[in-house]
Amino acid sequence: MPFLTAEGQTYSKGLENVVAAISAISAIDGKEGILIYRGIDIEALAKHSNFGESSYLLLFGDLPNKHELEHFCADLFGARELPENVVNCLKSLPPDPHPMDILKLALAHAALYDPDKNRMNRKAKIRKAIRIIAQLPTITAFYHRARQGKEFIMPNPELDHAANFLYMLSGKEPDPEDAKIFDIALVLHLDHGLNASTFSALVTASTLSDMHSAIVSAIGTLKGPLHGGANERVLDMLEEIGRPEKAEKYIMNALKEKRKIMGFGHRVYKTMDPRAKILKEYAIKLSDKYNDRRLIDIALKVEEVMKREVSKKGIYPNVDFYSGIVYKFLGIPKDLYTPVFAIARVVGWTAHVLEYTEANRIFRPRVLYNGPIDREYIPLEQRP
Ligand code: CMC
Repeated sequence: MPFLTAEGQTYSKGLENVVAAISAISAIDGKEGILIYRGIDIEALAKHSNFGESSYLLLFGDLPNKHELEHFCADLFGARELPENVVNCLKSLPPDPHPMDILKLALAHAALYDPDKNRMNRKAKIRKAIRIIAQLPTITAFYHRARQGKEFIMPNPELDHAANFLYMLSGKEPDPEDAKIFDIALVLHLDHGLNASTFSALVTASTLSDMHSAIVSAIGTLKGPLHGGANERVLDMLEEIGRPEKAEKYIMNALKEKRKIMGFGHRVYKTMDPRAKILKEYAIKLSDKYNDRRLIDIALKVEEVMKREVSKKGIYPNVDFYSGIVYKFLGIPKDLYTPVFAIARVVGWTAHVLEYTEANRIFRPRVLYNGPIDREYIPLEQRP
């Protein structure tokens, strides 16, 4: 039977080690723990760049000159407001859904009013990408205000992407040092090869569906606890552990019960994720700055026990382990940690959609059928 043969086909559970696309956007060296965006080490970008410049680099391939950067930021800052119907809809939503579900809903809603909704050429795709990147922080902040019964804080064109988001959440201009740390956290999350949500965006875009649909698919994929949803669960775990002295017992029990420790492990990295290294520094810095080491001391103890127990299997902290502690000190509520991941990763999603659809081919893998064959159809009245 042709549908039973696996000749010429390969199977890899979870597509492990399968190369499904060619890309010049970012690359990971999982053994050495290196991540590059368009050839530039993430450490250098975290130190010297910022959200606007690194986003331009990912979307267009090169660092912008002064004029290009000003132009790009003006486009980005000018696109932050949402269509009126979306704003009204955000006011009428119940307060309990997970904000990732609101992100999907509001972005799909905004797509209906996008001025380029019927255009599929590259320039229109870029304009849509910029609008989506600009609007996700506004959606997140507006929903957060609406669910508390508070007035919306309109975007402030004087503030950059990171500072403006913190401002729209709280209504207060953030401390510049904190806003810079948030900007660095966004830079670290911008792109990461063919991760699950980026793949999702590409599968949707490869059917020649539109940019908004691709990003809505990606948001749904990022939500899961094995991907972007891990950052909130790390905070749940640290809070559940409660005190550094309790970390050893908690982790040993979890490992014995074969439970996954959130914020650890990665399909590609077999050493510490370079983003986690940088976020760890800032988590320590903020804990000292705000004189509250409760969570960081638990996290450091968890890392120590995990290192002793499972590092030989290549399990180390990933980007999600320390990011939540950073966000907590920046005043971001826990259920917005994954939306914050989306606010950054949308740059990678859109960059990959732009790149892939230039030389598009629909994704259409095969499934290896292992069910029964040659079964007879039994009419309903004769079935037991
Ligand atoms: N805690 C304990 N054991 C682990 C963990 C963990 N976090 N991660 C992997 N392992 C073990 C796993 O039990 C398995 O052991 P064994 O071979 O004895 O059965 C082995 O390592 C391989 O695990 P896997 O689940 O087959 O690995 P994968 O490549 O399919 O999954 C992963 C990668 C990230 C989903 C997984 O490590 C995990 O579930 N981690 C926790 C969730 C998490 O932190 N996710 C964020 C990922 S990074 C940011 C992002 O992409 O969003």
